[in-house]
Amino acid sequence: MPQARIAGIGMYVPENVVTNQDLTKYMDTSDEWIQERTGIRERRYAHRDQETTTTMAIKAAEIAIQRAGITPQDIDFIVFATLSPDYYFPGCGVLLQRAMKMKEIGALDIRNQCSGFVYAISVADQFIRTGMYKNILVVGAEKHSFGLDFSTRGRNVSVIFGDGAGAVVLQPSANDKQGILSTHLHSDGESAELLAMYNPGTHANYWSPNQKLANFDEAEIGEMFFSHKMIDNAQVFPYMDGPAVFKKAIVKFPEVINEALQANGLAASDINMLIPHQANLRIAQFVQQSLKLRDDQVYNNIQHYGNTTAASVPIALCEAWEKGKIKEGDLVCLAAFGSGFTWASALLRW
Ligand code: UT7
Repeated sequence: MPQARIAGIGMYVPENVVTNQDLTKYMDTSDEWIQERTGIRERRYAHRDQETTTTMAIKAAEIAIQRAGITPQDIDFIVFATLSPDYYFPGCGVLLQRAMKMKEIGALDIRNQCSGFVYAISVADQFIRTGMYKNILVVGAEKHSFGLDFSTRGRNVSVIFGDGAGAVVLQPSANDKQGILSTHLHSDGESAELLAMYNPGTHANYWSPNQKLANFDEAEIGEMFFSHKMIDNAQVFPYMDGPAVFKKAIVKFPEVINEALQANGLAASDINMLIPHQANLRIAQFVQQSLKLRDDQVYNNIQHYGNTTAASVPIALCEAWEKGKIKEGDLVCLAAFGSGFTWASALLRW
């Protein structure tokens, strides 16, 4: 059976540009610190009331579907990657299916954080290869701005993240030279708590970075999923041990890219465009150096959008393609690393 190829791609970022300088109004940080440590100059924040993860995804999906030359009614499966869903449940896939008036197709949400989109296209590729589906919509979308700690306490996390969405339509490739050559998925749960949002959750303890996992008071039984104490102690925000994540990322990114190249008998010099998950410009630069890639072989746009987690790879891929940096026949590598830890790569011939 033929592998999947990207038949259409789209992206959407909110209009509201938030600069590093803007963030200094809320927390003790500086444009200099953020640019030096992350490369980020600005990010986009969704409209507080009128935009959700799903509404942004719909805008990206409309473009991808139109560019694929089909209509929403032709889509026969949805894979939606996000860590910031509109609701705790149900997932965003069904909300998108309803809003875009699609048929009663399957909708699958993937909660794999930064590697979510690469995992999602791997899942979709398998359905195409088995012949089960012919037009799969794969989305990565995030509305981070709604759930960040904008006090100085949360600055190591809050300055990094931004909102946005990217989408692709996958269809069976007409020949074995074009499309997704292979995907490679990994995880190591050993460090699951080093980049995580613990609450709301079904664990019987709650996280406090200083106390490690603390037990609930008996008085709190009955309100464990979400307790007043969690809110009072600001334990409802993402937690990240940045340096630990950084150290692991710069090892696993090159490893999973090399795995993809080896599986296809190719070398790093064969890559026309590497789209790394936009976690931190310094991480992308480490990866570029360790693979000995030229500047024109790597695309970064974290400077303008920050880290948009599951949306970062499709947004960067779409923007690189729109700028004419990816052409037919090019070897494109997608790679991501993040919370879990999970990491993944996909090698495709455009
Ligand atoms: O996409 C998900 C995967 N995530 C990642 O890949 C993130 C990987 N990690 C990183 O990108 C970096 O670790 C960060 C950008 C998060 C942090 O950079 P860092 O160079 O590792 O800094 P650090 O956490 O070691 O903090 C250094 C100092 C600390 O102050 P002291 O203790 O040296 O006085 C922090 O309190 O910088 C301070 N700091 C800040 N200062 C100004 C932390 N955040 C900020 C901030 N503004 N926003």
